[in-house]
Amino acid sequence: MIKKCLFPAAGYGTRFLPATKANPKEMLPVLTKPLIQYGVEEAVEAGLNTMAIITGRGKRAIEDHFDISYELEHQIKGTSKEPLLNEIRSLISQCTFSYTRQVEMKGLGHAILTGETLIGNEAFAVILADDLCTSTKDSVLKQMIKVYEKYQCSIVAIEEIPMEDTSKYGVIAGNLVDGTDDTYRVTDMVEKPDPKDAPTNMAIIGRYILTPDIFDILRTTKPGKGGEIQITDALLEQAKQGKVIAYKFKGKRFDCGSVDGFVEATNYFYNKQN
Ligand code: UTP
Repeated sequence: MIKKCLFPAAGYGTRFLPATKANPKEMLPVLTKPLIQYGVEEAVEAGLNTMAIITGRGKRAIEDHFDISYELEHQIKGTSKEPLLNEIRSLISQCTFSYTRQVEMKGLGHAILTGETLIGNEAFAVILADDLCTSTKDSVLKQMIKVYEKYQCSIVAIEEIPMEDTSKYGVIAGNLVDGTDDTYRVTDMVEKPDPKDAPTNMAIIGRYILTPDIFDILRTTKPGKGGEIQITDALLEQAKQGKVIAYKFKGKRFDCGSVDGFVEATNYFYNKQN
């Protein structure tokens, strides 16, 4: 049973400067909720209750968010504003939160390796909170857990993207399994390829389920694209042994790490709410 969810949240968020100068990107709100709260809600919906967050300098607001604010709560108790804190209070009561700092930002793979101390020797989920996912039925992570239960190996969520965007993503190649039309056994993975070098237009989004042998692989993974330790390179090692499944999720994803995606998400949730 997967219980732990890792949230790499140490990146600088340079695409949102100056907003992210002193404020974590993961705390940017879509309507009234910070991105990372949407991620934690998705994990809880998938049955996970142990949140492990990789932070860095300037990220303390994340810890304060998942804690009780006695003064504020005392102030609004009994007023019409009290229910505004219901959702976050409920999350805090259902989960534990633990944190470790990535001291040097050496890439997503390195951030995940930093989380080993919080995860230990068990399979775990990873959510990149700046990829905001929504679906009409099961959450994306819940769908992935079902796939994991069947294949018992690492799972990546994928989406078809325009070919000209491949240089923004990890891209996979694979073969459909068991007569499905949404589940591939991965044969190749490339980090941010030029469109001319991309094996397909199937891009990895910010949802993973990883088996714990990934930590040993990451320990010896050399810096790749952009000089960073890439999770895609480590996953390729597992894929070579047939141990990575790519799953085309049902739902919608917003790239809230970019201004365009963030505005799109805001409009979508605003229209939905109204
Ligand atoms: P991004 O590629 O979106 O980088 O990282 P970023 O630094 O957050 O944002 P930009 O590109 O400068 O605007 C993808 C995810 O990996 C985490 C980020 O926090 C984000 O959730 N990450 C990345 C780390 O935790 N540590 C790193 O060293 C790199």
